[in-house]
Amino acid sequence: MKIQPAMLLILPPKANTGTTIGQSAATIAMLRLSLKTVPARGRSGKVMMNKHKPVTAATLLRARQQGQKSVWLTAYDAVSARLAEAAGADVLLVGDSLGMVVLGLDSTLPVTLEHMIHHTRAVVRGRTRAWVVCDLPFGSYQRSPAQAFDTSVQVLQQTGCDAVKIEGGEPMADTIRFLADRGIAVVAHIGLTPQSVKKFGSYGKRGKTQHEYEQLLRDAQAVTGAGAVALVLENIPADLAAAITSTVSIPTVGIGAGPDCDAQVLVWHDLLGISGDNPPFAPAYANLRETIIDTIRRWADDVRGRRFPEP
Ligand code: KIV
Repeated sequence: MKIQPAMLLILPPKANTGTTIGQSAATIAMLRLSLKTVPARGRSGKVMMNKHKPVTAATLLRARQQGQKSVWLTAYDAVSARLAEAAGADVLLVGDSLGMVVLGLDSTLPVTLEHMIHHTRAVVRGRTRAWVVCDLPFGSYQRSPAQAFDTSVQVLQQTGCDAVKIEGGEPMADTIRFLADRGIAVVAHIGLTPQSVKKFGSYGKRGKTQHEYEQLLRDAQAVTGAGAVALVLENIPADLAAAITSTVSIPTVGIGAGPDCDAQVLVWHDLLGISGDNPPFAPAYANLRETIIDTIRRWADDVRGRRFPEP
């Protein structure tokens, strides 16, 4: 079997010996399948997003216009990027959630531009076709459109990613316009905006009062009019997300925002059940936390019981 260079990087170090061999063969087989050049068709027979061409902002807009859902997932390193792509993710979001799920911080506020650049470079190294979006961290863009531009230039030049994401609605519209007018792809993020947790006092649902509901509708219009290429809607009522999706002209990306958004995004650790601390709107599709702990425990038992390594 011919092993692709990309596969070697995710194989366990002892892929050719002992008990990992079956797992390694299965991993290779799965990767080979996902890398095969079959045209992707939906259940209707319609040809879906081309699985080999690089994803662009235009691809995502076309998917919305054709009623196809796009799949976004956070990623923080080359391995998570490769695995998400092998599973068919269209967009890899290097979220500043990395502060909480990877770096052990208690909010996203201490995340720095250096952290974001470091991790985004790794994700870009791991992707082949997915669109990579980098969150601009707290304090790196809010002061002025010029500050946001300088930060975005650093991110785009130093990482090779495709777009930046910034939190905020109407008050950030001038900044989004400034960036968009200068050729930068900007993803806006409204609803629950974790960088404002100190102002709101919680990570609770937004848009529940009439006032917030109407403000979020205005926010969505403002960022769209300013030239954002996509709009993340986090933890807002499903009917509000549906209303926004039907009135804006750009793809909406829901997380805790109901089924009517054009795309869905989840945090890697929540989806895979690694954090053990999922928000209510982010169901785990697996329990990798248990699998990982159990695997390490079995190996540790073998070390202590002198069964590893085998003589
Ligand atoms: O930081 C992040 O991971 C995000 C997603 C939750 C949308 O912004």
